[in-house]
Amino acid sequence: MTTLALNNVRPYGEDVTNILIDVTDGVIDAVGENPFDDADEVVDCGGNVLLPGLVDMHVHLREPGREDTETIATGSDAAAKGGFTAVFTMANTSPVIDQPFLAEAVWTKGQEYGKCDVYPVGSISQGLKGEQLTEIGLMSRSGVRMFSDDGKCVNDPQLMRRAIEYAKAHDVVLAQHAEDHRMTEGSVAHEGEQAARLGLRGWPRLAEESIVARDAIMTRDYGGRYHLCHASTEGTVELLRFAKNQGIDVTAEVTPHHLMLTDEKLATYDGLFRVNPPLREARDAEALKQALLDGNVDVVATDHAPHGSEDKCVEFEHAKPGMLGLETSLAVVHRIFVESGEADWRFVAKVMSERPAEILRLEDQGRPINVGEPANLVLVDPQSPWTAHGDEMASKASNTPYEDIEFSARVVGTWLRGTQTYDAKKA
Ligand code: DOR
Ligand code: ZN
Repeated sequence: MTTLALNNVRPYGEDVTNILIDVTDGVIDAVGENPFDDADEVVDCGGNVLLPGLVDMHVHLREPGREDTETIATGSDAAAKGGFTAVFTMANTSPVIDQPFLAEAVWTKGQEYGKCDVYPVGSISQGLKGEQLTEIGLMSRSGVRMFSDDGKCVNDPQLMRRAIEYAKAHDVVLAQHAEDHRMTEGSVAHEGEQAARLGLRGWPRLAEESIVARDAIMTRDYGGRYHLCHASTEGTVELLRFAKNQGIDVTAEVTPHHLMLTDEKLATYDGLFRVNPPLREARDAEALKQALLDGNVDVVATDHAPHGSEDKCVEFEHAKPGMLGLETSLAVVHRIFVESGEADWRFVAKVMSERPAEILRLEDQGRPINVGEPANLVLVDPQSPWTAHGDEMASKASNTPYEDIEFSARVVGTWLRGTQTYDAKKA
């Protein structure tokens, strides 16, 4: 057995301890008061914070089809650098992931590259057209755990109802991109004062909330496990509270950018800030933050959406929606919750690792840092100032909305089943 010692770590930012990893089996072999100095490899972690590897329920890795902007390999590099050991990549590729062999190919590529477990999300409708359901059963048998037409909403209520019934029968998660498309035609910014001032066509909160309300009632009546992608409004938070109080099986995610940024950023018409759903107002960001703290929103998911500069450095209306997220999310969450004193590292582990793993029933992710558990881990230095620059990202694209912003928490190392997938010292 080959061993690795991570000495002088603080699991969840708590007391200092030492961890011995069995690299051969990829599990934690021992946790102890004394440093493990006889291991094959010994790392002094300098009292840094150790968390379970992060799990992102929502990324876009663009393969197949747009490998010029991201691939499963570059996306895995970005994930590992951001502290992730598992990601779910959305189906809006070209071709769309709407058949078992396509989903299997995504998973296999991720495993061959080996930096991160890349789980394919299957589409709900064939070709993302919103007309015919995909073979949810067949895809679930080839390992697909979550289905989504993300990028588009399943608007047709009858199709959504059938999808909910099939998803229930096969015990998979349905993830909805809530946007009533009839209400967002030509919309590029949150409908409010800022859009009016800038002369941009507005996207009302109602376009999201009306779908959330409908879907909550559908889930109440037809069952299944419903997940809401990128919740963005105060009203959505209220609807989630209503649904959860009724015992309806809904979960929800919020993106780092909807927590940290608002439509004030649009003042310069910079296409980097165009995203679906759009950046909203301070009261929405505040409601989402409180909801994450009280559990009405379950997880943080990045919606990592790489785009080339030819699609971002253009007039705001013509910019493609989407922002990078994998390499900045931990730093953003740390800033908003830990640095501010509103929550601790246990909370970060919960919303960025444990809850997503639980929702998707990943048995080897989001686990406690204990003997016998898989060694999927991330080491974080909470006080290592760094500045975000798009052109320094591992991602193939550079469309970060945090250009030139300084953060204090930095990922130092990531391990997937005991094998190091990112090392800041070597980057
Ligand atoms: O901003 C977004 N970009 N929102 C989505 O739902 C899709 C994503 C993309 O694929 O670029
Ligand atoms: Zn989406």
